[in-house]
Amino acid sequence: MRSLLEITDFSKKDLLKMLARIDSYVVQPDSWPKLSNSVASLFYEDSTRTRVSFELAALNLGMKTIQVDVSRSSENKGEELTDTIKTLHAMGINAFIIRHKEPKLIHELHQQIKTASFINAGSGMFAHPTQALLDLYTIKQRLDNFSQAKIVIVGDIKHSRVANSLISGLKLLDAKKIVCVSPDYFKPLKPSWQVSWEDNLDFALTGADVVVALRVQKERFKSDLNVSLDDYQHKYRLSKEKLAMANPGVFVMHPGPVNRGVEITQELADSEKSVILQQVRNGVFARMAVLSMLFDNRS
Ligand code: CP
Repeated sequence: MRSLLEITDFSKKDLLKMLARIDSYVVQPDSWPKLSNSVASLFYEDSTRTRVSFELAALNLGMKTIQVDVSRSSENKGEELTDTIKTLHAMGINAFIIRHKEPKLIHELHQQIKTASFINAGSGMFAHPTQALLDLYTIKQRLDNFSQAKIVIVGDIKHSRVANSLISGLKLLDAKKIVCVSPDYFKPLKPSWQVSWEDNLDFALTGADVVVALRVQKERFKSDLNVSLDDYQHKYRLSKEKLAMANPGVFVMHPGPVNRGVEITQELADSEKSVILQQVRNGVFARMAVLSMLFDNRS
């Protein structure tokens, strides 16, 4: 594999291998490979977790990392992104970690520049494959076989690249009971996956094993979307009381950043039921696994 553009770039077998690779990096730090490649990050949308964890992952593997400050790059003088990438590639940078609002821009770069690798760090509302990897690994740490687990995804599914990639990954691993919960205004018009839909959170949470809360992505709302946050919070905010309907071993995930009090209460976000910071920790190892998968045979 030259690039990671979507979680569905993996077969089921390769996805399981990736999860095993992440696990080996978690439990055996002395197994971390040393790589000599250079990698550049270009983030055209804001990020804390993904950007920093990719940098840390590359440093853990001995790679040279360059953070391109896109707000001050020569694109502001009219240079096309393709030329920016070609320029950096000519300097010896082999791999590009890109976050961009355009859903398929990274696919175009992958097609146009065939000697470089591209890693999707979030593409619009479409895909966030490394988030899916860390989410799947976090679930697998607690549920060895989750094909029969009830996995409930709550919130702004319409605007969520996290949901799109996670559901595609869960499907690859044969998850059978995925329940999406959202009001109509947060339902995608044409979801590409087969899942159950609920608009009643209490009903959906009954018997849940895993609950994933999603951020309400105000920055992606179209002006015509009529959303009352008060109404949303009243009906869909996760709380300890709501979680009482779930199975006793239930745990709560959130990709971050969290809008405390909007999609999840402060109390639940900080409770023993929350694995939000575990997800963040796993993100470093998941991104190490991606970088090493792309480069350990090529350095
Ligand atoms: N989950 C996620 O992508 O977080 P950041 O936007 O902070 O990278």
